[in-house]
Amino acid sequence: MAELPGEPVLHGRTALVVGGGSGIGRAIAQAFTAAGADVVVADRKNAKVYIDVTDEDAVRAAVAEASSVLGRIDVLVNSAGILTESRLTEMDLATWTETIAVDLTGVFLCCRHVVPGMVERGFGRVINIASQLGIKGGRDLAHYSAAKAGVIGLTKSLALEVAEHGVLVNAIAPGPIETPMVEGITEEWKAAKRRELPLGRFGRPEEVAPTAVLLASDPGGNLFVGQTLGPNSGDVMP
Ligand SMILES: NC(=O)c1ccc[n+]([C@@H]2O[C@H](COP(=O)([O-])OP(=O)(O)OC[C@H]3O[C@@H](n4cnc5c(N)ncnc54)[C@H](O)[C@@H]3O)[C@@H](O)[C@H]2O)c1
Repeated sequence: MAELPGEPVLHGRTALVVGGGSGIGRAIAQAFTAAGADVVVADRKNAKVYIDVTDEDAVRAAVAEASSVLGRIDVLVNSAGILTESRLTEMDLATWTETIAVDLTGVFLCCRHVVPGMVERGFGRVINIASQLGIKGGRDLAHYSAAKAGVIGLTKSLALEVAEHGVLVNAIAPGPIETPMVEGITEEWKAAKRRELPLGRFGRPEEVAPTAVLLASDPGGNLFVGQTLGPNSGDVMP
């Protein structure tokens, strides 16, 4: 469905935005809608469709509901995530396991239940929200960084499996973005982080969303396969 002159870039596309109840996911859902897509938002809270990405039955039910509302799912965005801080040497297993379950296994489960339909139809776009911490690591963030590095590896591997079927799988690895996820971090840490960033400031969710629109669009997204795009204020330059 290549873009016609004057037509919104996602006109005629359908999208499921998992974790779209807040922050980056919400901004992506809004940008997709503004670009002409039909969008279903799924989240544990603040969404019409309930999903807990750690629970396979809930994922299956949410995908079925979204498919029946939309007719089909052309674009899947995986933006659900949690972040806590803990030194690895003091981290309990439950903290590690929960982070891996939401931030990595959740992406696996949503892909597992949405991608087969895309392969069958010969078209799909999957956009996984990773993090630059999956590339550079982060002090007190071994669990989160490991999960996000896992998302980048999953993205590349799935991209290799399904590109020939017209399904393009990519990741976005944002830098620090002003969302409820970073609200709990101390102002002192944020000020130090801002000084480190070449751009000198955190991003806003609406500054990440256009990267997702690009990846979802035709022709703009057509040649991205297994890539990790970095709207990150210059913090990481892979
Ligand atoms: N904010 C940042 O600085 C930043 C930077 C890089 C990457 N990210 C990633 O971006 C994504 C979105 O984060 P955000 O900053 O918008 O945070 P956010 O807290 O605003 O949004 C996260 C959403 O995920 C949902 N969620 C959490 N656990 C869930 C579960 N088990 N099932 C379903 N939904 C669940 C929450 O309800 C929330 O709506 C996350 O994957 C995060 O790791 C954020």
